[in-house]
Amino acid sequence: MDQITIRRPDDWHLHLRDGAVLEHVVPHTARRFARAIVMPNLVPPVTTVSAALAYRQRILDTLPPGTDFKPLMTLYLTDNTSPETATEAAASEHIHGVKLYPAGATTNSDAGVTDLARCEDTLAAMAEHGLPLLLHGEVTHGDVDIFDRESRFIDQTLEPLLQRHPSLRVVFEHITTAQAAEFVASGPDRLAATITPQHLLYNRNHMLVGGIRPHYYCLPILKRERDREALLDAATSGNPRFFLGTDSAPHARGAKESACGCAGCFSACAAIELYAEIFEDAGRLDRLEGFASIHGADFYQLPRNEELITLRRQDWTLPGEYNLGNDTIVPLAAGQTLRWRLDGQQDTP
Ligand code: DOR
Ligand code: ZN
Repeated sequence: MDQITIRRPDDWHLHLRDGAVLEHVVPHTARRFARAIVMPNLVPPVTTVSAALAYRQRILDTLPPGTDFKPLMTLYLTDNTSPETATEAAASEHIHGVKLYPAGATTNSDAGVTDLARCEDTLAAMAEHGLPLLLHGEVTHGDVDIFDRESRFIDQTLEPLLQRHPSLRVVFEHITTAQAAEFVASGPDRLAATITPQHLLYNRNHMLVGGIRPHYYCLPILKRERDREALLDAATSGNPRFFLGTDSAPHARGAKESACGCAGCFSACAAIELYAEIFEDAGRLDRLEGFASIHGADFYQLPRNEELITLRRQDWTLPGEYNLGNDTIVPLAAGQTLRWRLDGQQDTP
């Protein structure tokens, strides 16, 4: 097969940042995806409907006229997010979820939730109005090993949460373990998960054997090979509750290549190409469209995209870095040769 044509995909988990960085990262996503769920972990975090709408406008302002790309906004859940704010968010056509960052879990999560018990009324309002809760699924207690944080979250937080709120719609973001894949697959229809390219491509050895490779460092951290295999099985299973979410998370080169480097992999510049390679290697290219372009839209109760994209089998080399204004950014799989190329793609390092 020398080309694949699928419905235009959507990215159901994306970091775009703000300010001067926007114009450098938004075009990569807008070229590939029709829509993206935009994460709210800015400084300060996006905690109100008016802040989310203003952020949406700043994103739209970076798009060249005629670009067809819709940012789908989210709010950042804090201990103080009121049920009224959740109700107002649910009524907005531009807001599609509320993101839970356990305080201290990851980049810009200091304002996150310290105790979910403080959010019960707000979660109930979200359930009532059908507004999904998007989870960074890791516990943050200092005594829990970083490789166990997702598993502990399932037992301690997620399972009881689903029981307490039997109609709340939940997206377990960027799952990284066999246990999470199994939990979602055997869970209710109102529970879904996104899976990143890095968690489908790499295990922790890729990051740590033969030297520390900071551009593979993201949170939740890469796990074992058997976890990667379970995620690959889930992504390519055809189960509609698994869908594409890159978690593309730009950090300047210097912030990654540092004695205390930031978490996040930047994949927006080759995301659908990487997923195509992953699905082809798994012998399941026929299921790429469901994962990338159908399952997420159905879960979020949004229309499926009507436009198409075409990927052609043609080797191209991912640049070692892209421009980020005064900085540069190193993409996931930098310098590697990819075998699928997006039709009409221009190189804009
Ligand atoms: O690796 C990550 N980077 N994981 C997250 O949860 C946040 C993200 C970021 O914002 O940089
Ligand atoms: Zn993220």
